[in-house]
Amino acid sequence: MSKNNRRYIIAGNWKMHMTRADAQSLVTELVETLGRETAVRTLVCPPFTALSDVGKILENSNIALGAQNMHAEPSGAFTGEVSAAMLRDLFVTHVIIGHSERRSLFGETDRQVNNKVQAALKSSLKPIMCVGESLQEREADQTLAVIERQMSVGLAKVAKSKAEQLIIAYEPIWAIGTGRAATPAMAQEVHAAIRALLAKQFGDEKAAQIRILYGGSVKPTNAKELFEQEDIDGALVGGASLQAASFIKIAQAAYAMM
Ligand code: 13P
Repeated sequence: MSKNNRRYIIAGNWKMHMTRADAQSLVTELVETLGRETAVRTLVCPPFTALSDVGKILENSNIALGAQNMHAEPSGAFTGEVSAAMLRDLFVTHVIIGHSERRSLFGETDRQVNNKVQAALKSSLKPIMCVGESLQEREADQTLAVIERQMSVGLAKVAKSKAEQLIIAYEPIWAIGTGRAATPAMAQEVHAAIRALLAKQFGDEKAAQIRILYGGSVKPTNAKELFEQEDIDGALVGGASLQAASFIKIAQAAYAMM
């Protein structure tokens, strides 16, 4: 296929939702429908408190387990934080890093994002590094400048040999939780720019292997047209990942592309 055989990733970011019981029932439903599929990489990112229980239900399924954040240091006096080793201990394989909510609500900087990306890779966790512009930045025509800064600082000193472990998520802030997704053409333009930046840093061959996900109001009704874009390799889904039916429909839109 034209996308260099990149396998789609459909990831659910549950954010601060789901008690253990709610998480268990949601993931049980997902496993029933998606658990044996291999054509698409499906992934759920529950809150820390549900990782262990969700992980048990995912055992022997093809749905992967991700976390929503981590600390860059391996251990230490960092009250309230969780390390890569702690995530590995729960069989977590992926970790979202630098989500816009962490950047805007918790003051995470590009430099901190970079430290976390490096720490994740060092622990063999696949980082899903989020980038994206605010509405104000888009209206001021700064989208590509913002993405370039987030990419270059966020991925500084990442070794070329680890590049294919990276996953990038483009999440325009104005599209998150608003019901107003980027149009496929708008998203594709930024995804292509992201791939060009990856090529500049890691070379064309590596850049062609790295998955770039779109996030921001992805729903069953707009998934297909987004996935049809050349450089869109899946989705990071918020609201629509909290219900089995809508997450499954989004995943099926990706299967249908294979
Ligand atoms: P929504 O799908 O709710 O817009 O959230 C997107 C997001 O932030 C995923 O990380």
